[in-house]
Amino acid sequence: MKRPELKGRSLLNLKNWTPEEIRFLLQLAAKEKQAAHSGEVRQRFAGKTLALIFEKRSTRTRCAFETAFGEEGGHPVFLSTDDIQLGGKESLEDTARVLGRMFSAIGFRGFRQQTVEVLSGKSGIPVYNALTDAYHPTQALADILTVQEEFGRAEGKTLCFLGDGRNNVVHSLLIICAKLGVHCTVIAPESLRPHPDFLAETAVWAQQSGAKITITGDPAAVRHADAIYTDVWASMGEEAQKAERVRLLSPYQVNDSLLARTENSACIFLHCLPAVKNEEVTESVFEGPSSRVWEQAENRKHTIKAILLATLLDLDVYC
Ligand code: CP
Ligand code: NVA
Repeated sequence: MKRPELKGRSLLNLKNWTPEEIRFLLQLAAKEKQAAHSGEVRQRFAGKTLALIFEKRSTRTRCAFETAFGEEGGHPVFLSTDDIQLGGKESLEDTARVLGRMFSAIGFRGFRQQTVEVLSGKSGIPVYNALTDAYHPTQALADILTVQEEFGRAEGKTLCFLGDGRNNVVHSLLIICAKLGVHCTVIAPESLRPHPDFLAETAVWAQQSGAKITITGDPAAVRHADAIYTDVWASMGEEAQKAERVRLLSPYQVNDSLLARTENSACIFLHCLPAVKNEEVTESVFEGPSSRVWEQAENRKHTIKAILLATLLDLDVYC
């Protein structure tokens, strides 16, 4: 395994992570998954602390951080916005500087990408984006690990996302695919597509990796897909737009006939979860033989463990 030095790094949106660094995290996650399945117990985070500041709800991400860190002797501290000053009575910058003096790292889930950037800039410790309105980088790592496990490699495979094509999950998926040479097709109505400036950024990485990035409104573009991916039609914080989204996105539902249009019986179904069944995906696809959603959810923990190991410890402790 090529071993880049990642100690002290933050993971805010994957944009400043090189393909080699991302591949290293994925390899490390696969290795940690194996070790976890073999029952290996270690205490590599003993004496370390992790602040988890969550403005939005979470099952997988919170539990992945808490179990990956806590099982190895680390002490995670969960802080909701009811528990902590976050730009209210105390400025965000001041909170960041206090946390930087007490914790080894910070995980943040919330609304504004700027919040996680400020936490990183001012705390002086590694900060992880556990989802913002703009990005969900830890999810993207688990998504690619799941594709890799299924097909032996992700590079050269084609992943099609259908639904809200400008949400956090799609942004991170496009970044990781563009960097790693995974072809990514986003199938969405015109008003819900990635911003052209963002696409111009991904195009540079795609050119280097050979990834083909396609944005279209036509569900027929799923032909020959290796993986079909969807997410909720209205993300956290967008509940007021739900009715409009149902109207716009119903033609993009992932159902059995959509899956058949891939003309690929080996095609898998992915969803970051939580899912609203019979909206973005039918029960039959979700529970069907193509679904890999539970593997994908489990992989959140192994990929997050890899991020924590790589950014908090010296290379010789975990490699
Ligand atoms: N996929 C994901 O981030 O799930 P949670 O919202 O439950 O953390
Ligand atoms: N796009 C979804 C992802 C949830 C994991 C949201 O932000 O609600």
